Amino acid sequence: MSSSHPFDAPLILQPLTLDWLQRSGVEVAVLRLDLVDAELSGNKWFKLIKHLDAARRAGAEGLISLGGAHSNHLHAVAAAGRRFGLATVGLMRGHEQQTPTVADLRAWGMELHWLGYGGYRERNLPTFWEPWQAHYPGFYPIPEGGGGLLGALGCAALVPAMEAVLGSVGWADYDAIWLAAGTGTTLAGLVIGEGGRHRVYGALAGPPSHSVSVGVAELLEQAGVADGGYELLDASRGGFGRFDRELARFILATECDGGVPLDPIYTAKTMMALRLYVERGYVSAGTRLIFVHTGGLQGRRAAESQLHKLIDG
Ligand SMILES: Cc1ncc(COP(=O)(O)O)c(C=O)c1O
Repeated sequence: MSSSHPFDAPLILQPLTLDWLQRSGVEVAVLRLDLVDAELSGNKWFKLIKHLDAARRAGAEGLISLGGAHSNHLHAVAAAGRRFGLATVGLMRGHEQQTPTVADLRAWGMELHWLGYGGYRERNLPTFWEPWQAHYPGFYPIPEGGGGLLGALGCAALVPAMEAVLGSVGWADYDAIWLAAGTGTTLAGLVIGEGGRHRVYGALAGPPSHSVSVGVAELLEQAGVADGGYELLDASRGGFGRFDRELARFILATECDGGVPLDPIYTAKTMMALRLYVERGYVSAGTRLIFVHTGGLQGRRAAESQLHKLIDG
């Protein structure tokens, strides 16, 4: 296992040309993390890299983690395990169900345990891991979503990586970064990597909750970085995972007119929040923004027919 990128593809910064951006004179370049790897795509490699290093240092024979039946995180853990020769175990939220994500997890050899909803809610109890560690000794536990300080520190590496490709869009600098926030781990990593140079805007995929800002503040404290330099915005449109006709149409238009595929849970809601910000005049003309495409397109497969029904309906 190596801590260098598992992919050969260079990071791509893609200028985004959309009518609402052109009208406002705001420039956006999309950091296409969704393209870095067919399986370990989006923010996932960066969130996992230091956890994988820790597993290697511990001589772990496997990885064990948690998530739902559409989890981008478990998808990446299963892919990483297969790639690096580690067994993988997924502790699943809810009751057994078939999704394209679950089919991949199984095909890649991940052993699944369905915990129900009540069982899954116990994941934050101090005793939660004990039976699993007894059952799978030598397996390295990765926190839900690849979070924690190691997850954030892995994402800090995104800042020099994006700086290295700025020239490809003819920019010497940028004004701020936008990205989707779930736990806020990726955002915390970017704030750490930025060291206060550029503001980071995190568009919350779930309803605004105190726990995300507390979690980000804790990560920054653990990293020895001042709490600040970022903003969390509500992008949830009525709830995590909910989507509506306007979102479906926006996804289609952004893909057709801007050449960027978005997922309905994270990246599309973030881009819609950015459009609202721009249209309300909160972003001045000439501003240069980096939009981090955090991936999630594998999770879009299960939503595809619903999206099309919404568009056609
Ligand atoms: C596609 C995608 N974007 C954004 C996020 C949010 O990342 P974080 O939990 O680090 O805020 C996730 C969740 O991991 C995700 O799967």
